[in-house]
Amino acid sequence: MKTTLVALLLLALFVASCEAVTRGAFKTCDQNSFCKRNRHYADQVAHLQSFSNPYEVTKVSIGKGEASVSIVKSVPKAKSVPLSLKLSVLASGGVRVTLDEPNRAKINNVVSSKRYDASHWAFNGEPAIDTSAQITDYEHTIEAIYGDKTKAVLNKKTLQLDVYRNDKLEVSVNKRHLLNMEHLRSESDNDKHLSSYEIADGMFKEEFGGHPDSKPKGPESVALDFEFPGYNHVYGIPEHADRLSLRSTRGRSEGDHTEPYRLYNVDILEYETDSPMPMYGAIPFLQARKPGSSAGVFWVNAADTYIDIQKEASHTDTHWISESGTLDFIVFVGKTPEDIVTQYGSITGFTTLPPISATAYHQCRWNYNTQDDVLEVHANFDKYDIPYDTIWLDVEYTQAKKYFTWNRDVFPDPGYMLGQLDKTCRKLTVIIDPHIKLEEGYKVYDALKQKGLYVKSNSGDAYEGDCWPGKSVWIDTTNPAAAEFWKSMHAKEPQGIAAEADNMFFWNDMNEPSVFNGPETSILRDTVHYGGYENRDVHNAFGMSMINATFAALTARNPAVRPFILTRSFFSGTQRTAAMWTGDNEASWEYLQIATPMVLTQNVAGMPFAGADVGGFFGNPAPELLTRWYQAGLFYPFFRAHAHIDTKRREPWLAEEEHIDYLRNAIRLRYQLLPSIYTAFRQASVSGAPILKPLFYVAPNNPDAYARDDSFFVGNTGLLVHPVVHEGATSVNMFIPDEEVYYDFHSSQLVHKKNDKGFELEYKANIDTIPILQRGGHIYARRDRIRRSSELMLMDPVTLVVNANSMWDAEGELYLDDGKGYGYKNGDFIHMKFNFDGQVLKASSLNPDPKSFDFVHKAIDIPIEKIIVNSPEMLTVGCTVRQAGRDWNPKYETKQIGATHQTIIHNPGLAVGLPWAMSFS
Ligand code: NOJ
Repeated sequence: MKTTLVALLLLALFVASCEAVTRGAFKTCDQNSFCKRNRHYADQVAHLQSFSNPYEVTKVSIGKGEASVSIVKSVPKAKSVPLSLKLSVLASGGVRVTLDEPNRAKINNVVSSKRYDASHWAFNGEPAIDTSAQITDYEHTIEAIYGDKTKAVLNKKTLQLDVYRNDKLEVSVNKRHLLNMEHLRSESDNDKHLSSYEIADGMFKEEFGGHPDSKPKGPESVALDFEFPGYNHVYGIPEHADRLSLRSTRGRSEGDHTEPYRLYNVDILEYETDSPMPMYGAIPFLQARKPGSSAGVFWVNAADTYIDIQKEASHTDTHWISESGTLDFIVFVGKTPEDIVTQYGSITGFTTLPPISATAYHQCRWNYNTQDDVLEVHANFDKYDIPYDTIWLDVEYTQAKKYFTWNRDVFPDPGYMLGQLDKTCRKLTVIIDPHIKLEEGYKVYDALKQKGLYVKSNSGDAYEGDCWPGKSVWIDTTNPAAAEFWKSMHAKEPQGIAAEADNMFFWNDMNEPSVFNGPETSILRDTVHYGGYENRDVHNAFGMSMINATFAALTARNPAVRPFILTRSFFSGTQRTAAMWTGDNEASWEYLQIATPMVLTQNVAGMPFAGADVGGFFGNPAPELLTRWYQAGLFYPFFRAHAHIDTKRREPWLAEEEHIDYLRNAIRLRYQLLPSIYTAFRQASVSGAPILKPLFYVAPNNPDAYARDDSFFVGNTGLLVHPVVHEGATSVNMFIPDEEVYYDFHSSQLVHKKNDKGFELEYKANIDTIPILQRGGHIYARRDRIRRSSELMLMDPVTLVVNANSMWDAEGELYLDDGKGYGYKNGDFIHMKFNFDGQVLKASSLNPDPKSFDFVHKAIDIPIEKIIVNSPEMLTVGCTVRQAGRDWNPKYETKQIGATHQTIIHNPGLAVGLPWAMSFS
């Protein structure tokens, strides 16, 4: 009772603070001394008549695909500081530069004085070097020639690095001389050794909101500028509740931010929209687009980071500032936006192919309170004929927020519950957070204490703070031994469920980490992690370290089943193991509006498995808002309804009568499109392709498309969706970014025929309608029989939709596998490529060596039950099919729908997994 009271009090505090959240709880650049120092540095350097570069190259040695450069940093009135720079060309594309301060003395026994290298979190293994790159040490420059007509030139005097593609300058690094590596120094003589453009603010200690930061290593920030010549649009660096095309941050024009974009993982509570404030996750990867070219920068650093952006008429400037760590970045250049994300993903890894159930609809709230509650919600989905795949349990399922326990009073038999869900292939996702209740006798706490596997305070004791369970400690999953322990917690029937209960997945929340009584709702920066590094160094990778440990634990627990994990905190590379969502939004139109750009930003930043709480987390959505949110949310790669504990219940059948139909239709549309959405996941998992594509991906040379973030394309389907996100709206102005033909999704009418670029179409959309167009040139698959869950539909017939372009061409793909295991890695999958040239529609296999294991064996004969061909011209005068050496003439019908000529072939007699050709003449 007592503990419940404490928990309730804490909860009340938290909720109250949610409502009272102010910007003041989070540092501005000026209140964060390393940012202040570097912005000051930038302002000073900008006004200097002539800049004397403190960094001087002393030695160069060239190796295969890389150059090692010794540098000294001159320090006023003191010995210069040796630095080591390495420039390497990566086999997957990109030039990488690292700059380290090798001779940092050990300054005390607790805190490592080495600079932190965050690449081991971000990178998917050590990236291969392009040993065929030609690297030459000239008198004034070091030049690397590599890839597709790409050249990187490092000026030895200025340390400016210019990257060219096809002889055109794409990125200039350190052009504004903002390179700054604050070297190790002692406090006593610091002031004497500053240059005229440096200030000493906060170098050795600072304080925020009553929380001291002891800074045992003194100042150690790293900063650098990157200019993108000719570029006016830059994207990425999630997570921020802002537009897709990032804004200037120096407040010079209306609409600019005045604060830099900040990457510092925090529990931002009711976050502001249109803001550069930090959020739960951090991906320090940015890409830029201009007609004909794309470029990108990956700033490999897990510390608190600010990015100032300044758009000038002829270029965009960016200034990157991190509190600590090595200076490490990669510059990418390429022809298309895809090229950049693929290069980035080749280094950090692509989205793991999730179980198909995770790509379907998730029903969550804080909380489903009892086992009966869960089973009733589960049964109601069937009663109301609404599919769903996963039901979720938030923190209340535990005993007093002690993870790896069940509150048996209300969940007496989790095994039974899982078994009931499993009958219709449904899953349960339960929450496990990284804070561990400080309670002697609680086995997780006892083990952490005994093995010292928690995050420590700077005095070497366990760091203690408040979170859901009250006083807590934090497991230090950056420690391999803690990750091993985590494995054991998941393996040994932690939930009282046999390890083979493979329909249970995990949600790791609050992993920034969130500390209710900590600075900026997080942990003290001078807390100490594995290897003696401070939280300051590892901060943005901490959540990811937990996810990696959970992923490894689930893989060990059941190697045959793909894990699904949802994380709130993330870093570059988290896409390899988990999905993210945008945290605690609000049931208001503003948050529905910002969700699309936020999800799109995740998609261009290499972590496309992303979604927002459908319906809004805080507050109660009006029926119209809830319906519009489902109609938008069904396209989020991660599609989950979720709500705060104080909100009214809002399962779809509780909506007003007619709205139940709208919600049902929205969820059913997700299931109808699932074959195509799953195909988009497959593409993302091998190339990093976005699952939701911003318009500039499809029209990369149309600048009018560059800032559009109110609509998107779904994978390669050609489906262009413009969700309705304004109250009372009954139409949207749908921007068509190119000259292609477009057909309406609902009526098949041709709505756009070879028009001017940048055409805007008024699309009528009463509350029952989602504005969707189909772009000519694409073929996609759907399943028209909706069953209770995704796995139950795996063997169902497929419908193909062919939308011919004005040349009568179209192409598309369909990927199918068993949706949960790893057989696909050994070839047990069907992957068909479809091509249409106006006369012949062909299917060929993209699986070079299909293995007739379980899945292919069963699925190869799945019938294609319908083919719909939309075309701007009449094409059908006869139809012949050929498959497996046999010819026949299937029945077809033709229709004229407005200007669209439609041909429908019912039951063409084709098996989905085998090649075929269909001739229309
Ligand atoms: C914070 C999360 O953002 C929210 O989704 C969750 O319901 C609460 N924590 C309670 O676990």
